[in-house]
Amino acid sequence: MAIPEEFIQELKNKTDIVDVVSSYVRLKKAGRNMLGLCPFHNEKTPSFTVSADKNFFHCFGCGAGGDVISFIRRIENLDYVDAIKFLAQRAGLEVPEGQRNEGLTRLRNRIYEANREAARFYHKCLYSPEGKKALDYLRGRGLTEKTIIHFGLGYSPSSRFELVNYLRDKGFTGTELIQANLANESKNGNPYDRFSDRVMFPIIDLRGNVIAFGGRIMSDIKPKYLNTSDTPAFNKSKNLFALQLAKNQAKGQLILVEGYMDVIALHQAGFENTVATLGTALTTEQANIIRKYCDEIVICYDADEAGQKASARAIDILRQTGVKIKVLTVPNGKDPDEFIKSHGENGPARFRLLLDKCGNDIEYRLAKLRLKYDLEDTRQKVDFLTEAAKIFAGLENDIEKDAYIVNLAEELHIDKNAIMNQVAKYVRKNQYEARQQQQRKMYHSSSGQDNIINPEKSYHLKAANAEEALLAILLTHPDAAAQISRQLPADKFITSFNRKVYETIQKRAEQNLGTDASDISGEFSIDENNCIHRIVFSRLRENDPFRAAQNYIAILEEENQKLSPEQIARSDEQTLMEQLQKMREKKK
Ligand code: UTP
Ligand code: MN
Repeated sequence: MAIPEEFIQELKNKTDIVDVVSSYVRLKKAGRNMLGLCPFHNEKTPSFTVSADKNFFHCFGCGAGGDVISFIRRIENLDYVDAIKFLAQRAGLEVPEGQRNEGLTRLRNRIYEANREAARFYHKCLYSPEGKKALDYLRGRGLTEKTIIHFGLGYSPSSRFELVNYLRDKGFTGTELIQANLANESKNGNPYDRFSDRVMFPIIDLRGNVIAFGGRIMSDIKPKYLNTSDTPAFNKSKNLFALQLAKNQAKGQLILVEGYMDVIALHQAGFENTVATLGTALTTEQANIIRKYCDEIVICYDADEAGQKASARAIDILRQTGVKIKVLTVPNGKDPDEFIKSHGENGPARFRLLLDKCGNDIEYRLAKLRLKYDLEDTRQKVDFLTEAAKIFAGLENDIEKDAYIVNLAEELHIDKNAIMNQVAKYVRKNQYEARQQQQRKMYHSSSGQDNIINPEKSYHLKAANAEEALLAILLTHPDAAAQISRQLPADKFITSFNRKVYETIQKRAEQNLGTDASDISGEFSIDENNCIHRIVFSRLRENDPFRAAQNYIAILEEENQKLSPEQIARSDEQTLMEQLQKMREKKK
């Protein structure tokens, strides 16, 4: 690893974990710690804590935990070195360059640069003679100068070489432009502009990088919109259009629409908390991002059949995040952009009315359900109520639940207690299933995961526990680590994962380097770090580390005595096999 130790220490000193985590998770103060919804598993009640003093995060639900670098590795899906670079950029620090060529990061940065230049170029073209029709088109669709600039809209010229030539002059290679998907590759390998004669919508991520483009044709030619395909710098299922603007205006609520133009029209009308997916159905990743920035999402999809189907799917996905869902249906089959425009200067006010009176997803789902049944028919009425009870059972607010039940009972002339009993049955069923699922999750995330990391543990339970207790002491008392780790040779560690952790500490202590969990994290994978974090987290700080350590060293010596030489040789290779065998037998 090429990054110098001192730099990593400086970076950690300059980085506030609460600050970093807050850009992903809404944290509230809870005693000395901060508390929020865990970004690494779905939950409705917060069990994710961040400790500013101790500089770590920990989730009591799924067991994820570690320092700020581990957090970034996990949430941004980066390796150790890239996570450090990510944090360095954030802290305004320059990472001292190592020898190795960080291929992917470099390529990504080149793509961002090329995209930024391309966005500037397209925007300039909008005001050129050739771009006039695009400018007129945008004005014709009701956009103001301010909006055009705010969204950085542009025009891609019809010649297939203007952008490629322009960017080549700026020093980008043909390969880079193809990798950025700004250019296509011709049969004889030459790059030519991907976007031609289209109105251009730049897509910008939360860090302000231009990551992709959408381009709309101004005629009836298909496809109507051409988008950047996925590149090393862009994944369409992990980004949302205009989130970088909307996130600061959310105040707890986001509006989700289908199209670029819907977003832009709504922002212009004052609804700057609007975002859209990027030409695909909503993904789980996008739903999780949405959850991070609001408590309530208003789904406002097109009124046509495709839009309604997409709406139903989006509801299913969003419900899993625990966000409050509302559904806004625009009347007369219009999309939000057309609706606003059709009401002229009253557009914004009319949309505000729709927004204020739109129902939550319960009403929406009830209305959909109703269409499936003939409520004059007694049999079908019962079926309808049974299904409706399932929907009500999902409501967390009891007052709201009662209100719906009473309304429906009155409307259908049914005893409200009958519906309530049915709902209560489903509530119990849901709770039971949730508990089961939680238990499964706990098993997989803590014991199960740790068993994968350290498969020998359950075979040498006593030794492994002593090893972990000793590691916890070393990791929390860096001042004592050197002395203690000199006392016991690494081969006294029986389980190999714990031995590797011990050796890492020993090696670093010898070199006078830091030895806490965060210091050694660069040598281990995300899951291994999780395991290390739990070793530390589940134990209290010892008052007298030396004395406590002697106790565990004694246990380890003793456990070693019990192992015959063959056993020691065997334990490494065969435990895994035996472990598997045991598991198989258990299953039978
Ligand atoms: P729509 O077809 O509903 O278009 O596509 P729109 O947003 O109303 O566009 P305008 O108002 O006619 O300009 C909704 C979204 O689906 C994606 C785009 O992201 C678009 O904004 N889409 C649509 C594509 O990616 N490609 C297409 O060919 C069409
Ligand atoms: Mn439209």
